[in-house]
Amino acid sequence: MGNPLFATKNLEDLTKEASETEHGLKRTLGPLNLTTLGVGAIIGAGIFVLTGQAAAQYAGPAIVLSFVVSGIGCAFAGLCYAEFASMIPIAGSAYTYAYATLGEFLAWIIGWDLILEYLFGASTVAVGWSGYVVSFFKDFGIIIPGYLANAPINYEPHVGWIMTGALINFPAMFIIAIMTTLLVIGISESAGFNNIIVIIKVAVILLFVGFGLSFIHHSNWVPFIPKNTGHFGDFGWSGIFRGAGVIFFAYIGFDAVSTTAQEAKNPMKDMPVGIMGSLAVSTVLYILVSLVLTGLVSYKKLLVPDPIAVGVDAAGPALFWLRPLVKIGAIAGLSSVVLVMLLGQPRIFYSMANDGLLPKKFAAVHPKFRTPYITTIVTGTVAMIVAGLFPIGILGELVSIGTLLAFAIVSAGVLVMRRTKPDVHRPFKTPWVPFVPIMGVVVSLAQMVSLPFDTWVRLIVWMAIGFVIYFWYSRRHSKVRLATGTNK
Ligand code: ALA
Repeated sequence: MGNPLFATKNLEDLTKEASETEHGLKRTLGPLNLTTLGVGAIIGAGIFVLTGQAAAQYAGPAIVLSFVVSGIGCAFAGLCYAEFASMIPIAGSAYTYAYATLGEFLAWIIGWDLILEYLFGASTVAVGWSGYVVSFFKDFGIIIPGYLANAPINYEPHVGWIMTGALINFPAMFIIAIMTTLLVIGISESAGFNNIIVIIKVAVILLFVGFGLSFIHHSNWVPFIPKNTGHFGDFGWSGIFRGAGVIFFAYIGFDAVSTTAQEAKNPMKDMPVGIMGSLAVSTVLYILVSLVLTGLVSYKKLLVPDPIAVGVDAAGPALFWLRPLVKIGAIAGLSSVVLVMLLGQPRIFYSMANDGLLPKKFAAVHPKFRTPYITTIVTGTVAMIVAGLFPIGILGELVSIGTLLAFAIVSAGVLVMRRTKPDVHRPFKTPWVPFVPIMGVVVSLAQMVSLPFDTWVRLIVWMAIGFVIYFWYSRRHSKVRLATGTNK
């Protein structure tokens, strides 16, 4: 046999695991719930916060094209996720797909990497949530003091880590605590709650688009692609691409659908619907919002934390009633992203623990609620600490780099699996193979390269910690290795 680092998990075993439901997770989710879970995870800080900054700094009104470019990039990876999620409907998502195709070590790498996406993602969006809540209360004269709603630590290029003088970001910790409690209580309760929030946030977005349309000044769209300033990424076509890299964050989350595969009633059919459906709905909404926003107000005025509210203000008194609703929509939107990210992470830990790569306790399912409660509580506690201490910028870039690495590995996995297991039943097949998976890898790597050097250093440090844990613990407890006696 080959190097045990690259031992793969048998597809037959995975299929058996997927069908064991008696003591495992509860299967309650249908195609609609899966799509709303995806929309719940996707629409959040990206559209409500980052759109304005990306338009003002990089792309101008052509931010609309940045959304198209980034959406197409995500569709490549999304199609690869859909193939795997229907073929291997296990809660571990990309981690499990890597175990079946690329071997245990790469599976570990991706499992460890996904913590950056989901756990740190929840913390990032919780920090955005805190900003919107503070501003919402301020509109009503209630002031939450800055030292209780900001990160005590920050990183300044050329200076290093600094203390900001703030104590803790309390609201960010609060929302994580609430969502963690809900997730321990039950998956269907969580999905039901998510459905309500998704209806609110989509309704607010549609109101913004519908009413905003009649207040558009076409002159704001001219020039649609502002001239490049002479620097790469400052407007022009390079600005559209840099803008796409920044708003990539807005699309993160469709893959979270795949972590609920063991709770889906009919994962083979419904996983691709949930993944691609939520991606399609969000892409259309993003294009409409950015078109209306840049038509309502000059892109130069959008470098603010609440660009959609600024767009509403620009329409004048006729739309003042929409302002508080936009904030409520944003707060609701960000809450559901936190919820679904906190839902995804424990399910990946759950799969890793089932495989022996993490302590067995992590795979415990609550006897009454049938949720992976230990991993949910561990995830929630760590996410709370991270959200309480760090600022949104640092967290957001770490989340993007971690997610892009996962997308690249999953896309590569489709290529490998088509070669090594060409005859396995694939309820959903990625079209135009090898073009789509190759593009999934290329687009993801290209976006990773565009991220700052500091973010790469953090990714490498994070991975180094992961390697130590793998060689110290996981390798020795791996079930696949125990079965073959290669765990020494
Ligand atoms: N896509 C999610 C958001 O924009 C992470 O908040």
